[in-house]
Amino acid sequence: MKINVLISPLNAEEMYFTGRTTVIIDVLRATTVISTALENGAKEIIPVGTIEFAMKISGDAFGGHRLLGGERNTKKIEGFNLGNSPLEYGKEVVEGKSIILFTSNGTKAIVKAKFSENLVTCSYFNLNAVANYLLALDTDFDILCAGDNGRFSLEDTVCAGRLISEISKLKKEVVLTDSARSSVALDKAFGKSITRMLAGTEHGKKLKENGFQKDINFCAKLSKSEIVPVYKNGVIKKYEPEKAV
Ligand code: MLT
Repeated sequence: MKINVLISPLNAEEMYFTGRTTVIIDVLRATTVISTALENGAKEIIPVGTIEFAMKISGDAFGGHRLLGGERNTKKIEGFNLGNSPLEYGKEVVEGKSIILFTSNGTKAIVKAKFSENLVTCSYFNLNAVANYLLALDTDFDILCAGDNGRFSLEDTVCAGRLISEISKLKKEVVLTDSARSSVALDKAFGKSITRMLAGTEHGKKLKENGFQKDINFCAKLSKSEIVPVYKNGVIKKYEPEKAV
């Protein structure tokens, strides 16, 4: 099993992902929101790359079964039902709903990797579940860190390192590229207190400034969800092994 880490979507073209297995990480906060919404019973998440497209496919025609969620510069977008705080995606709000999600980096990374044969999203919240899914799949994979407008984000790479470490504990024949090895080293250096690490990142500080301190605590929760969000044909649903065969 060969594992590679792409530290930002800038480092790969769409076609690179064709036929590959890809894990998207945007800890603060898109992939945490996705696992939280599915954990709380959302039917599906529809990740989109532009606000215009989100508006276009939302319409009023879905009898309230579709919600628009996401952020621009961390804040809820005018006309959207929800922002990008995992705390907004409670059972009472999302159960049975399709959620169209636009975020500055996370959903764009998912859309970029859409030609992957297997495409899943990971956060600390569902890290062990994703590790087990990848161990069962037993194939080479790339971790695509959403980053920040093409720049490196410490929190995504540290989380990637943690995922790789969990897999390496259970699988002997793991080959790591230089970026994957570096991610593991970063997790060892920064990942001991996830909350402290997240709070100290550039994006963590921005979230705090904008009043989202509670989100940092939530995004630091480790492996509280068994959900593996899987993207297929434009939508993300929870992985159900019995439906996959
Ligand atoms: C993103 O996609 O850049 C993030 O999820 C931003 C955020 O809402 O914190």
